[in-house]
Amino acid sequence: MPHPQLQAWLAQNRKLADQRQRRDPDFFSRQAEAHAPELLWIGCSDGRVSPDQLLNLPAGSVFVHRNIGNIFASNDLNCLAVLEYAVDVLKVPDIVVCGHHGCGGIRHALSSTGSAPVDLWTDQIRFAYELFHQYLDDINDFSHRCDRMSEINVRAQVYNISRSSIVRDAWKHGQPLAIHGLCYRIEEGRLFAVCESICDEASLQRQANASGS
Ligand code: CO
Repeated sequence: MPHPQLQAWLAQNRKLADQRQRRDPDFFSRQAEAHAPELLWIGCSDGRVSPDQLLNLPAGSVFVHRNIGNIFASNDLNCLAVLEYAVDVLKVPDIVVCGHHGCGGIRHALSSTGSAPVDLWTDQIRFAYELFHQYLDDINDFSHRCDRMSEINVRAQVYNISRSSIVRDAWKHGQPLAIHGLCYRIEEGRLFAVCESICDEASLQRQANASGS
């Protein structure tokens, strides 16, 4: 006998599957045919920032990677495998990094250090903080500082992805690929762009010059 909580979730799933099938009898057979997402989404694990809901795209449109603080770490096998699969196998034309205001990962990065796994993971946000703290030092309010840091962190991750050999090899072979940076204002339900999209070596160099690195 399944656990009561599991029973509740399974019942919810049955209800949804039945509703979908009644509305569109071929929905699931179409879904089973192929996986051809139009973008790779790298977002935060926060339950309030689910890409399908934010973008209002049909099911199956988004290849998703989520972790605390929407980080692309070039030494993380999971990040690298997702990026490689999205670019080389699925051939998505767009990659979106999306941060959000009120992010617990960002708060953690700016308020504590240590050697617990979450400290080590969010160290990568602290590195971006050290590079860009001049944009934050005049903001006294901690939650405002965190929200600005969320935007800076997205820029840093867009830059990290664009510099990866996976992306640069794709450009070299003429594969169209753009990397975009978005942030989500939870309190308004709105997405907004935080940096110029990077779609080739020239725009990567412009971004590098702009961030002084
Ligand atoms: Co978050």
